[in-house]
Amino acid sequence: MTAIYQPVERPPNQQESKDRRPFRVAEIQPLTDREFDLFQGLIHRLAGIHLVPAKKALLVRRLTRRLRELNLRSFTAYYRLAKQEGHEEQIEMLDRICTNETQFFREPKQFDLLAEEIIPEWNRQADSGRRPRRLRVWSAACSTGEEPFSLAMTLLHRLLPENHWQVEIQATDLSTRVLATARKAVWPLARAQRIPDELRRRFMLKGVRDQFGKVKAARSIRSAVHFDRLNLNSDSYSVRGSFDLIFCRNVLIYFDLATRRRVIESLLERLAPTGYLFLGHAESLNGISEKMRTLIPCVYTRANP
Ligand SMILES: C[S@@+](CC[C@H](N)C(=O)[O-])C[C@H]1O[C@@H](n2cnc3c(N)ncnc32)[C@H](O)[C@@H]1O
Repeated sequence: MTAIYQPVERPPNQQESKDRRPFRVAEIQPLTDREFDLFQGLIHRLAGIHLVPAKKALLVRRLTRRLRELNLRSFTAYYRLAKQEGHEEQIEMLDRICTNETQFFREPKQFDLLAEEIIPEWNRQADSGRRPRRLRVWSAACSTGEEPFSLAMTLLHRLLPENHWQVEIQATDLSTRVLATARKAVWPLARAQRIPDELRRRFMLKGVRDQFGKVKAARSIRSAVHFDRLNLNSDSYSVRGSFDLIFCRNVLIYFDLATRRRVIESLLERLAPTGYLFLGHAESLNGISEKMRTLIPCVYTRANP
């Protein structure tokens, strides 16, 4: 039988909410072009990261949750907070903005070059007294640690402490969130599948009980890697001394040309005369520095050491 009385449809603002939570999140006003410009300027000034207009949706996705956490209803209100010089929200905002994608042994040809050519050469030089058995390495945008620990495994497997080699790896990143993960040196087991078997067996511990499904870096490599926050866009860097290897991979792509030039200049000031600079697969020194020559794509040494 057809119902005689049907529910009266109420206007949308009076409709009973399906959401049964006692407190509902405030609606956030959509990001305007003007607000996008403000964030674009601020993020560029703080981190050198150039957000093209096509990244507007990405910015909204990454900041909306933060606005909700702070119970803010507009991006302007959030901008007012984040633009305050030295405010801790700047660190938080940059944490949310950064893309932290990484892998163990990312760009494996670069690790092959290291293992098959560069390290044997260092060993020969040390054996003939042409270099000390001391090596300093910098992973300059280390994300959650896979890159510096891939370096640690590659180096410590071949430059043995019992042969008096000392290997020190400085790992830095802008994001405090990824650094916290990197310092723990624990990852899901699936991520470790990319580590060559021999190195995984030697340098990774498998979790049991509540750590089941995870791996942790062994103490021998943990003690070689030191983490610090460092903004590549700042005028002065807190790292000391010079480095035999600098890995600065998959971060220059986020910078504009002027920032790239400045960052590369600062990195080269810290590269030892016979050192090597490794960039990401989509990055190069073309049009940025004449001082370096290409060894294999994205790996450089000084043109005149
Ligand atoms: C895509 S990840 C690359 C990680 C690793 N180097 C690799 O190639 O797998 C880029 C990293 O650069 C960091 N980053 C972005 N801007 C930075 C800046 N101004 N200074 C230092 N690190 C920055 C991000 O936090 C992120 O962890």
